[in-house]
Amino acid sequence: MVDSKKTKTGAKDTPKPQVNQMWGGQFSSAPAELLAKINVSVGFDKRLFRQDIRGSIAHAKMLSRQKIITDADSKAIVDGLSAILRDIEAGNFTFNDSLEDVHMNIESALKDRIGEAAGRLHTARSRNDQVATDFRLYVRDAFDAFDAAFMALQRGLIKRAEEHTGTLMPGFTHLQVAQPVTLGHHLMAYVEMFGRDRERIRDARKRMNESPLGAAALAGTSFPIDREYTAQSLGFDGPMANSLDAVSSRDFALEFLAMAAISAVHLSRLAEEMVNWSSVQFGFIRFSDSWSTGSSIMPQKRNPDAAELVRGKSGRMFGNLMSLLATMKALPLAYNKDMQEDKEPVFDTVENLMVCVQAMTSMVLDFAADKEKMEEAASQAYANATDLADWLVRELKLPFRDAHHITAKLVKVASGKGKALEELSLKDMQVIEPKIRKDVFKVLSTIDSVKSRTSYGGTAPDNVRRAIADAKKQYLK
Ligand code: ARG
Repeated sequence: MVDSKKTKTGAKDTPKPQVNQMWGGQFSSAPAELLAKINVSVGFDKRLFRQDIRGSIAHAKMLSRQKIITDADSKAIVDGLSAILRDIEAGNFTFNDSLEDVHMNIESALKDRIGEAAGRLHTARSRNDQVATDFRLYVRDAFDAFDAAFMALQRGLIKRAEEHTGTLMPGFTHLQVAQPVTLGHHLMAYVEMFGRDRERIRDARKRMNESPLGAAALAGTSFPIDREYTAQSLGFDGPMANSLDAVSSRDFALEFLAMAAISAVHLSRLAEEMVNWSSVQFGFIRFSDSWSTGSSIMPQKRNPDAAELVRGKSGRMFGNLMSLLATMKALPLAYNKDMQEDKEPVFDTVENLMVCVQAMTSMVLDFAADKEKMEEAASQAYANATDLADWLVRELKLPFRDAHHITAKLVKVASGKGKALEELSLKDMQVIEPKIRKDVFKVLSTIDSVKSRTSYGGTAPDNVRRAIADAKKQYLK
């Protein structure tokens, strides 16, 4: 995960705001307490400390290469920042609310550590291109972490699908039994969905991998900076072409939130099926004790809380996308402080989506399928009616609409007798359609129904085995 290492860096409340040392030159009094309160972001943007230090180191090295600052100052800055990074990671750093954000906290600590040279770091840079750079680096890390997490989920689904290429279950439409499928086929449907989520990740990552650093406040700078150098040293493909765009665009974060919202839908649908399937009414799957919770009053309960939370948390991820869309929609170019509101939705989505993907991966690997129960459900509710209609088309050359009509009549006869279609006698059938022969019974068993669905993408076990082999090649590299 992006910010997996916990630091002991709780933001400290400082009672009285002071004049900010970073920009307070023309100010004689401190900001109103409420201004300080609404302005402060370090409580959440301290998560960007690694990216901030990485960006500052690239910038300082570039400044000395370009003779904008001396090598000695550059070295002092780089060493100081590296020491600060170690301190933060070790939990020996206190973030201070009166310094507003992560950027000014780190710069101020650098000044305490190396003195005057620290003041040269911000040459040819603004917090506007600084924060845009930090946040891009953070979101890029998040994209990479999710690509790996979704791959692990796909691996789990593929493993379970492989175990269940021949496990029969009802396929549903409208949550009514429709036609028999296999559990392997059903699980592989999700492998495809998460595969597209990963494509969205890679596609967006490619588009966002350009460096805003060097755009400065909004207009670029008169210093002879080298934006190619900083872009390269931060792993970007190149510098962003327009300085106004560089400091004021957040579509990379929107694409991240959109990808996350869509994959939250996929996770939520799988979670919903797990909730249904693990109920007594379905009885298709059972979670082990590790993935079940009990009730404090009803001793018999085994609740699928984690699946419900995966389903439930999708709501906040949609909200996070909406929140940033609304924040951005009417902002004039270039930077506006509204944009400080870009971070919390992204942090919230990163943290919640990651726990959802990981929990889902574990649940996929955990459940035990009750094959008998599933097969029994697959052979009930006339799931083979389409097979009968198809036989009438194939063997008696009836138009499909007529075959549909005849089959519906046969279903009515069977349900009147409380029987399955295959339990009707040939005579019963011939009352409705005299040309029906006894070989019709060959297509009425659940396994034959499933085996017959050999069209590309269909549920026949051989097909599913092929799909699994293809998916391994495509996704598990
Ligand atoms: N904390 C700020 C943010 O997240 C950093 C940029 C501040 N820039 C400024 N011009 N005040 O957006």
